[in-house]
Amino acid sequence: MTWWQDAVVYQIYPRSFCDSNGDGVGDLNGVRSRLSYLASLGVDALWLSPIYPSPMRDFGYDVANYVDVDQVFGSLAVFDELVEEAHALGIRVLLDWVPNHTSSDHPWFEASRASRGSPLRDWYLWRDAGPDGSLPNNWVRAWSDEPTWTRDEAMGQYYLHLFLPSQPDLNWANVEVRRAMLETLRFWLDRGVDGFRMDVVHALGKDLAVDDPEELRLLSHVPLNDVAVTHEYLREIRSVLDAYEGERVSVGEVYLLDPARVATYYGAGDELHLSFNFASIYTPWRARAWLELIEHTENVHKTANAWPTWVLSNHDNPRVATRLGGEDRVRAAMVLLLTLRGTPFLYAGEELGLKDADVPHDRVVDPGGRDGCRSPLPWTRAAQHGWGIEPWLPFADRSAELSVESQQHEEASMLNFTRRLLEVRRDSDALRRGELVNLHLEGDVLVYDRAAGERRVRVLINFAKHASPITEPEGSVLLSSAARHTTNELGANEAVVCDVGTDRGVDS
Ligand code: GLC
Repeated sequence: MTWWQDAVVYQIYPRSFCDSNGDGVGDLNGVRSRLSYLASLGVDALWLSPIYPSPMRDFGYDVANYVDVDQVFGSLAVFDELVEEAHALGIRVLLDWVPNHTSSDHPWFEASRASRGSPLRDWYLWRDAGPDGSLPNNWVRAWSDEPTWTRDEAMGQYYLHLFLPSQPDLNWANVEVRRAMLETLRFWLDRGVDGFRMDVVHALGKDLAVDDPEELRLLSHVPLNDVAVTHEYLREIRSVLDAYEGERVSVGEVYLLDPARVATYYGAGDELHLSFNFASIYTPWRARAWLELIEHTENVHKTANAWPTWVLSNHDNPRVATRLGGEDRVRAAMVLLLTLRGTPFLYAGEELGLKDADVPHDRVVDPGGRDGCRSPLPWTRAAQHGWGIEPWLPFADRSAELSVESQQHEEASMLNFTRRLLEVRRDSDALRRGELVNLHLEGDVLVYDRAAGERRVRVLINFAKHASPITEPEGSVLLSSAARHTTNELGANEAVVCDVGTDRGVDS
């Protein structure tokens, strides 16, 4: 077992986490000031969404320089301090690496677009239109029904962008591009980062000659791109990480909807260490749907010899509290996230039960319609919740009540529930590393055990809006998501975690 298999990773969207200089945008000094909060919460690693210099048309996922820090977030010196302080607290630091595309403001793209004969022309994907004006393929870009191709008037050619026209795709088939991008990894690895979340990494290899099926086109090309050559690039990326001490980790955003396809991106242990499995974000709150998801995830990962991951929210999707509604469900979902077999990713604010903000028209800033889930974290009760001035996005409803200040001394709060759950997980080898066995339904109650050696922990989750009878396991209840647990019964949406001690001969 390695650290990234039993770590809990906490995602920070730096603009929305904590502001140290009163400009309404979160920054790295803000993150530093909250490291003790994260240590007391009990997470093991941070993943910072992009902090590089950027024109911010996609809020940092449009990188203008891979080897520096945007002024709005701080500087390289501040970043180095952050890494050192986090490490001193036993917290690892992952950066977000955006290898598929740069910003159109990146000097590479500026050089590439300057002339057809530019030495960097082939670093991006330039193509002529057909004699009849037709585009090279029918792909649709993200967040619109527009093509992935934009014409550059000066040179009369089209360039490819799976996202915004201001995010041109790099040509990974070009060995110099690969060399330059791998250098950017080394830059940060040399500074001590523990790994990377890799943005849309399944899209690096492309087959421009293949059209998308008409009926799927409006999904955008991103979830449809699944080309063999990407696996070669991933092996090159992996060998860069493997050359460093300390198990530096890669976590791929493999945005394909079938977990079986996602699992292929682990290669034979020589590609990604981990990959997101977004099916959990799209699975409805029904016991059978979760049973099937868990079964399928277990099967495909076991077959591929791959370690699963679990996630309920991130900066691209509505928060789990918005999707599920009801604090009881949100607590039960947190139990799922932190007790299933695999590495859990917790999105900042999930521990508070935060919902998305309602963002009025005149405050919309994201071209992908994702502002709501990026609302700022409320630290204090008072107006502006510790931000000094009105932040770049509005706060979510109930931010005073859900603020860290309000929740931290209230024993029954969501925050303290999450802390306890993380503690239970930390203290249990079975929960962190054990096999997942005995998965079944008892009516609306989902049941599974985590088993390591002789130790067994049983998790029971009632997906119903009403109480459900259960066979109370022998042993002790380590934690219940309800205010009070009644023996032989689970309340509506109640989840319990029980220590069933040594193996009691349950078939796996
Ligand atoms: C990924 C990121 C998303 C970003 C996109 C383009 O999907 O998670 O936030 O907009 O890639 O980089």
